[in-house]
Amino acid sequence: MECKVITFDCLGLFDEVINVYKNYSIIARAIENGLVEINTFNIRDYTLDKHHRVDDSPYGGGVGMVLTPQPVVDAVEKVKGRHDVPVVYLSPAGRLLNRDIAKEYAAHKRIILLCGHYEGVDQRALDMTVTDYISIGDYVLTGGEIAAVIFMDSILRFCPGVLGNEASNAEESFEDGLLEYPHYTRPEDFRGIKVPTVLLSGHHKNIAAWRAEQSAILTKKFRPDLYAKYLSEKQH
Ligand code: ADE
Repeated sequence: MECKVITFDCLGLFDEVINVYKNYSIIARAIENGLVEINTFNIRDYTLDKHHRVDDSPYGGGVGMVLTPQPVVDAVEKVKGRHDVPVVYLSPAGRLLNRDIAKEYAAHKRIILLCGHYEGVDQRALDMTVTDYISIGDYVLTGGEIAAVIFMDSILRFCPGVLGNEASNAEESFEDGLLEYPHYTRPEDFRGIKVPTVLLSGHHKNIAAWRAEQSAILTKKFRPDLYAKYLSEKQH
């Protein structure tokens, strides 16, 4: 059992989405090893409505349903207790997630994630409970759970021990402002396309130089915006 690094408490309506994520690969292992804890709390369990309703139509009219404030606020308050924990609402209105933001959140011991549904959550509930807003991109998802999974996954890369191999993060895309170099494995010749010879040379310095060059070429080609930023930061 290793020392716990981070706990995520996810509040939403569709725990299954989070549970699928919890049960696979690297994350399942990190949970089993006691490094990470991911808890789910269903907002429906907190409703005081006798029909277990958690949503209603919007005041002022309009399409869709809105999550009512009572179960949301009660759920957050119960889960949070008296602790000073960030409560993150996943929403297209939030700060756009990137590597630096993920790293920033990795410094927390515990994070509460609030996943909205339908047209959203009653604004009063958000104002009463939410400390931070995060978006995973400029598009609208059907529910916050998918965004929560992406957010957690981006954070966990920066949590010591979770990847199993600390070195692998240092070489990932974005670590130096560039995309990662291309990878090759066996066979040496696949349908007539050969692995670049430098990778077979065993010459570590040449391999590192080739990879750095490839990173720059790929970034320039696929993400000219990132490449321009990289160049301007290098100059300062
Ligand atoms: N919920 C719905 N769309 C979202 C997005 N783009 N980012 C985060 N949460 C969301």
